[in-house]
This record gives sequence, structure tokens and C-alpha cells, in this order.
Amino acid sequence: MPEVSNARIRKLRTWIPGKSSSELIGVDENKNKITLMDLASNDYLDLARHPLLIEAAKHTLETDGVGSGGSRFITGSRNIHQKLETNLAEWLNRDIVLLYPSGFQANLAAVLALADRHTTVICDRLIHHSLLVGVQASRAKLIRFRHNNLFELELLLKQTRQRNPHKRPLVITESLFSMEGTTAPIKEISKLCIKYDSKLLIDEAHAFGVMGPEGRGESFGIKEPIPIISGTFGKAFGSGGAFLATDKVTGENLIQNCGAFRYTTALAPSICASALAALNLIKSNPNWGRKLQEKSIALRDELSQIGWQRPLGEGPIISIILGSDELSINYQRKLEAQGLLTVAIRPPTVPEGKSRLRIVIKRNTPVQAFEKLIKVLKIQ
Ligand SMILES: Cc1ncc(COP(=O)(O)O)c(C=O)c1O
Repeated sequence: MPEVSNARIRKLRTWIPGKSSSELIGVDENKNKITLMDLASNDYLDLARHPLLIEAAKHTLETDGVGSGGSRFITGSRNIHQKLETNLAEWLNRDIVLLYPSGFQANLAAVLALADRHTTVICDRLIHHSLLVGVQASRAKLIRFRHNNLFELELLLKQTRQRNPHKRPLVITESLFSMEGTTAPIKEISKLCIKYDSKLLIDEAHAFGVMGPEGRGESFGIKEPIPIISGTFGKAFGSGGAFLATDKVTGENLIQNCGAFRYTTALAPSICASALAALNLIKSNPNWGRKLQEKSIALRDELSQIGWQRPLGEGPIISIILGSDELSINYQRKLEAQGLLTVAIRPPTVPEGKSRLRIVIKRNTPVQAFEKLIKVLKIQ
């Protein structure tokens, strides 16, 4: 095993959900029980323990059992899979939605469907690891542009098209970046992809439910040039599993040829039922995302008022870039001592020298948590 510094070693910690959806119970370094305010999980809308999601899962456990017992083409398909796929396709105004056991697997499948060894993949430098694994598996040529840098993207598109006019490149980006908190300029990126006849794959894992019109993601309403959007249920949807939303041709191709769809046990029915309950809640509360954004913008403002560089972005992920691993860990410890759970994010998750504190705002995060956070971060 390669040698790593103390500040870079990861330790698995176990948590018990506390009384409210904002609390997590764990143990500290001295093995004392601690209750912390959750400013770290991706359960942005506080749905993981929502009574309607629990009820839906319980009911489906009774009717459909625990596991699906097979892949979608053998015996694994249930009504709930189809219902969730159809409802999501309608909500997102896409032709086909297909479920996957995880976002990691869905991303792998998406890249493999859109790229092969003759493709040039042009991606944002900070896209998720699963997408890069997909590019590796496809054996496509990989080139990267600086985060959200449209000028560099256009240059790379132009060069790629000149070098290979007969093969459409594939551009990949996330919409809400998981570790940066920034949003990609999807409209502008789409326009460039149309201009240079390129395909565009967007990972909306962190955006669905909270960003875009009524939480439908940043790419909502833009069909060309996006054959696939990837989303997960493990974040704002409070459940688990994932999906790809596609056009008709791409979806049919995935159904017929995608190993990651065909050769895997279908998502547990109860998980699907919870995801569907979450979708219904998000539909009937179209302002949830906007309100969360307002809170997160206010916190960014407060952070800049107490002397921090204003964190980029407007979504519920707020990254305070500190640079060193040690400093990030120290801030995590300081906040934890005051009852707040934030996580120090270090390389290789983020680039060298860009260690940071990642703060997540959730729908029910109490005001007192923000007050405490600002108090601790003020003492520099
Ligand atoms: C941007 C992004 N895409 C995809 C995934 C993978 O999703 P899942 O957790 O469902 O495997 C994650 C994280 O977990 C992510 O942050």
C-alpha cells in the first residue's frame, strides 16, 4: 500500500440517525457518543426518513418482497420499475428512462453507450470518477478542459473536429458539481456542442430535485444535443439506485445492448417505491429547490461577510477551499467539537492543494446550525 500522511488517511465512521432528520449520532475519537448536526450528507431535501417514503417502502416490501430476484429481462421487472420509469420520463420530458442499481453503474453505461475507441471525449476536469472509469472502459481518447471554461472547451471542440471531421466527439460535464458546489453553464455548453456537432452527456446526480425549473435539473428543456442525462435517487430523492433519461434511439440501444442494464439484478422494488414517493413529493412542492438555493446563497453571503472568499455556486453544496489537508481536518474537528458535522475533502477526491471543507445545506437544517457555523468559522 502506498504511504499516505496522517491527514490523508480515511477512517470509516458509522452513524445512527438522530431524533430529527438533521441529526446524526456517532462516536468521537475518544469513543464518546456524540450527536451532530448533519451538514454533510446529500439528503438535500430531508427525504430519507420522510414518512411517505418509509410507508411506500414498507408497503412494497409486503407486496413484492425484499429483492427482485433477477435481472430486468429474466424475472426482475415489477410494475413499480415501470411506473417509476414512466413517471420520471414524463417529468423530465424525455422519451425513455431506465433504472440502474447505482449512479456509478449508470454513468459507466452512459459513457459506453456514447463513446468507443474512435471517439474523442472532452470533459470538464472535475467530473465524477465513475464517468472517467467509463471513458477508460470505452478506450476513447480523453481530453479535458478547465472547470467550466467555455473558451477552452470551444478550442478543444474546434481542434477535435478539424482532426476528425467524421466522428462526433462526446462532451461530458456535471450540472451541479459535487465537490465544488458550482453549476455548469449547460445552455452555453449545449450551444457549443450543437455548433461543433458533438454529443453531450450530463450527470445531474446532485441537481435533480433541487436545481433547475421545479427541481427538474439544469438541462431541463434542452433536448439537443443531449442524448443521455444521468441521475441518482441516493441524494435529493432520499432513496437509492439511479437512472438514465434518454432519447428514443439511445434508450432502445441501451435496452438491447447495455450490459450494465441487462446483466444486473433489478433495483429492489421497495427502493423504487420510495424513489417514486420522493418524486411525487418533489412534484407537489415545486419551490423546495428554490428555497434551498436562497438559504445557500444567504450562507455564502454571510461567509464572505466574515472574511472568507465567497464560495462559488448557488446550490446546496458549499465548498470552502482551504488548500492543505491538515487545515481542512482541523476545521472539521473544530466544527465537530461544536456539534456540527462537515467533512474535509482531500485528494484524490479533489486536486492536490485544493483540500476543503464541504458544507451541505438541507431543507430542514435549523437556523441555529448556520449561526454556530458562522461563529466557529469567524475565529480564524
Ligand atoms: C456526480 C456524481 N455522479 C454519480 C455518483 C454516483 O452515484 P451513486 O452514489 O448512486 O452510485 C456520485 C456520487 O455518489 C456523484 O457525486
